This record gives sequence, C-alpha cells and structure tokens, in this order.
Amino acid sequence: MCGIVGYVGEGDAGQILVKGLKRLEYRGYDSAGVALMNGEMLIQKGKGKVINLEKNLVASKITGKIGIGHTRWATHGEPNDINYHPHLSESGKIALVHNGIIENYTSLRKKLIERGRTFKSQTDTEIIAQLLEEIFTTSDISFEEALQLTLKQVVGTYGLAIVNIDEPERVYVARKGSPLLLGIGDGEMFIASDASPIVEYTNKVIYLDDGEMAIVTKDDYQVKTIEDVKLTKEIHELAMGIEEIEKAGYPHFMLKEIFEQPRSIADCLRGRLNTSDSTIQLGGLVNVMEELVSANRIVIAACGTSWHSGLVGEYLFEYLAKTPVEVEYASEFRYRDPLIGKGDVLLVISQSGETADTLAALREAKAKGATVLGICNVVGSTISRETDAGVFTHAGPEIGVASTKAFTAQVAVLTMMAIQLGQAKGHIDNARAAELINELDSIPKKVEHILNESDESIQEMAKLFTYAPNFLYLGRTYNFPVALEGALKLKEISYIHAEGYPAAEMKHGPIALIDDMMPVVVIAATDHTNDKMISNIEEVKARKGRIISIMNDGNSDVKDLSNFCVNIPSTIDCFTPLLTVIPLQLLSYYIAVNRGCNVDQPRNLAKSVTVE
Ligand code: F6R
Repeated sequence: MCGIVGYVGEGDAGQILVKGLKRLEYRGYDSAGVALMNGEMLIQKGKGKVINLEKNLVASKITGKIGIGHTRWATHGEPNDINYHPHLSESGKIALVHNGIIENYTSLRKKLIERGRTFKSQTDTEIIAQLLEEIFTTSDISFEEALQLTLKQVVGTYGLAIVNIDEPERVYVARKGSPLLLGIGDGEMFIASDASPIVEYTNKVIYLDDGEMAIVTKDDYQVKTIEDVKLTKEIHELAMGIEEIEKAGYPHFMLKEIFEQPRSIADCLRGRLNTSDSTIQLGGLVNVMEELVSANRIVIAACGTSWHSGLVGEYLFEYLAKTPVEVEYASEFRYRDPLIGKGDVLLVISQSGETADTLAALREAKAKGATVLGICNVVGSTISRETDAGVFTHAGPEIGVASTKAFTAQVAVLTMMAIQLGQAKGHIDNARAAELINELDSIPKKVEHILNESDESIQEMAKLFTYAPNFLYLGRTYNFPVALEGALKLKEISYIHAEGYPAAEMKHGPIALIDDMMPVVVIAATDHTNDKMISNIEEVKARKGRIISIMNDGNSDVKDLSNFCVNIPSTIDCFTPLLTVIPLQLLSYYIAVNRGCNVDQPRNLAKSVTVE
C-alpha cells in the first residue's frame, strides 16, 4: 500500500527520495510524488510508476536537501494529479504525505469550508494540511503544538511526514496505525514506512509507535507523544542487507523468492531444530509455553496467504499436539465480538506484520484476556511488537507482492510449534520426535530438488495453459489449504479465475464446471486419502478435464490418470505442504509471465494492506 520516504541532510533529496520510492514500489501504488524545500515549496508528481515522477523531476530541474515523498494507492478520490500526494495547505506553505485513512474527514472538511477554506482534492489527506494551517495561523502557538492539536481532532489512521516552508530544516512525522521509522545516518536522517528505502544508507533505526511524533533535522531527532511527553526511543539495528532487496539476476523478485526457498526454509529452521537430542527450541515461545500447553484452544487469525498457512497450522496442531484449533479471517474475527478470553491463545500470522485487520484481531483478543502470539516475517513490525510472544520466520524481505517464501516459512514455523507443543503435551515420544525432526531438517534439500527437477517442465506446461480462462485446484487434508494457495497465486498474478476446493467438495458444485477446457490441478501427495483422491481424479477424467497432478515419485495410479505430472519427493504426510506448494508457485509465475502480466506488482494489489 502507500509508502512514505523522507530525507533531511546534505545530499540530493530528490534523487534519494526517488530511489527510496522505487524500493517501496513492491507495496503496490498508482502514483508517486515528492515535495522538496529549497527556499520555496516545490512539488512534483507522476502518474503510475515512480519512473514517471523521476522523469518529471529531471525535466523540472528542481532540487533540495530536504523533502518528503509518497507512493499512493488510491482510497479516497480517483488517481489523478490533484489527488496524488503530497498535498498542500491553502497557502502552499505546508506539504504533507499520508498513509492511512482519516475517517472523520467529511465533517472536518465541511466545517473548514464553512470557515472559508477551499479544497483542491477529493482526498481525506488534504484535510490534515488544511486543518493544521488553520490552527497554526489562527493561534499563537508553535507549529509543533498546532500539529498536536490537529492530530487530536482527526479520527482514523495515519503515518505522516510534513514539511513547513517556514521551518526549512525540519521534517515532522507522526504515526497512528500506519508504520513509520526513522533512519539515523551521519549528518543525515531518513524517514520511511518500512526499512527498504533506508537500508543502503544506515542500519540504525527507530520505530515509532502509535500516538508518537518526531521532529527530525539532519543531525538530530526528538520523539514525543502527541500529548507532548518526551520519549527516549531504543535504536534498533537492521539485520537485512541491500542484496536482499535486489533481484540478483532474476527477471522478477517473485522468481528469486521462489528459488530462495531452500535457503529461507533452512534459515527459518536454523538453530531451532536440534537433531542430536530431537528437540525444538523456539526462543520466542519460552515464556508462554505453559499457556500454550494448557490452552483450551488456539484461534489462528490472518489474511490471504497467511490465512492459508494458518489452515495448514490447524491440521498440524490438531494432529501433532492434539490442541483444538479454529482458523479465522482476521477481518471477520474482529467484527463479530468473538468469544475468546483467558485460557485461549490467539495466534496471528502476518508476513508484513502490518496488516490492519490482523492487527485489529490481535488487539481485540488481547483486550479480552487471551494470550496473543504472532508469526511474523518483518522484525520491528507493529504486530511483532504488540503480541505477547512469537516467532519470526526469518525468510528475509519478500518484495514480490505474491507471497511465496513467506508462506513456506510460516508453515515451517507452525510445524515446529506443533511438534514442540506435541512433545510438551506428551503426545510425541522421543522416537517419533526424532523421526519428525530429522525429516523436517531434510525439507530444504527436497525443495531444492523440486526446483531443479521441475522448473523446466513447468515452464513448458505453462505454455499450454497460458490462455485458459479458469482453473480448479483440488487437495485433501494438509493439501486442501495448498489448493487454496495455488488458486490464489494464479488469480492474483495472472488474472485467471481460479478456485481451490477440498477434493471431495467438487461433487457438491464445481464439478458442473468441468469440461475439456478446464485444467484441474490435483495435489495428490500420497497419504491415507490417496484412494479417495484417485476417485476424484477419475471423476475429473470422466468429464474430460485436463489433469495436472502434483504427486509423489512412483505413484503410478495417479500418473496413469493425469495429463501432466510434477513429481515431489516423499515425506511425512504433514510436511507435504512445504513441497507441494512449490510447483504451484512456479506454474502461476510462468503463466503470468506468458500473459505479459506485471508479476511483481499485480494490478490493484498491495503488499502490505494497512487499511481495513
Ligand atoms: C497473497 C498475499 C496476500 C497476503 C495478505 C496478508 O500472495 O501476499 O494475500 O498474504 O495480504 O498479508 P500479511 O501476511 O503481510 O499479513
């Protein structure tokens, strides 16, 4: 979703902001803009990609050493030059960029119009610039105080970066519900909505919390609450390196991230699986193990791909730890006054750690007394900081909008949690633990094998299905969520309509769709449902559907019925999602490339969904 960058220093702010905005492109956006201060307030905007803003900036020859920039994902007001950020106050002296949504903007706007202010845009954001200017110019207070009063009047969420031409050395920032961090350089300071634009300049960062603001100059910063309480914030060290947010020779981030999975899964397991004594050590859960062991149930809340990994988690926890699990869409959970409280564990799963609905679910369950745990990829993210405890996936930055390596890392964490809990509850003895842990340790190699062995054949197969209008994905047990994930991957990057179903449900409706034009992807990893799955494949075949099977080496029954097969190595049933999802990721990637789609930044999608 929208991204923010800011710079104060001696460098060329325009160039630094544009570079930073390019690093934020992965979040999804439809326009970009910057405000630079150089004796006057200079604004430049561009429709679509950041490159257009860059061209406009070069052509206009404007420069400055201090400025703010934004990538906008339209919410209020169509994407056009007037609605793109930055927005100006009426006098043009104040410029700001905003992530989030101001909910009471209609009533505030009406009041300001009644008092004589003229608005240019249809955005909720402009209200902040206008209200701030009105408060500042009609009372005898500092700009900082005027900002605090403004923020007390607006209802909603914001990450804000603001410049005022009368204070040409400063950038003001504020946060409520939309992430912001400060990067501390040597004689220069950076502001961003996530670490990717900052990482090449400094690894020292400060994460702002909700209700906080900061006044930033080139060699100083002051953080305080909106209520004016001064704060001393911890300086964190970023673990990510610049190479992790570059393509490293791959044509797309998505392909790079698919191929990174042997390493990202290994990174996720590293130091946590102990094969010598068959134990699992998840440092983040040490203090909540008692709550987990005695939990009445675990409720998992997440969105999108993370929700799919949660569904795999349900099978894992129930099978390995005998703990009842419910999996909820975070957006549904939060709005239905959920029955959750002391004795329950809410486990939220989020790659970004910033998804608005997931964060709200977390807060809801926490307020009701549940123990709240998280599985997150982004260290320092809001969700990771607000949970009682949790586990990082350590998959590295995921830039492609379609989630791939985050999914497998989430499933790897859920698998470790379920085994550890199963051991702690006495459901897994040492011999079984040794079997599970040794096999889990071998998964990265098996993922590598699949990538090496099937990449080319999937690329060829994708050519045959590039123009298929629909796809059906079928799976059972652990691989039902993988069917959902395969369908989601295909639809989000190739815009082909795809549905995932539990294979047995096919007879209850979707079978009506099957004819000789319908590709049906069957996840047929051999397990106790193999015979049932074979019957389902027969049913598809009888209706001339084109069958693509993801199956274990040597499963001749499935092979004989299928038009196309992708082999995966055998593993313990409950680990199969870590393998079966890989061919599905590759299939959707190659189909989307063949269709000429923008794989890394699919239309209408945002990487981090920070609005409800
Ligand atoms: C799909 C995808 C989304 C995210 C969802 C939740 O490929 O990436 O469905 O999984 O928006 O995001 P996080 O995991 O950041 O909470």
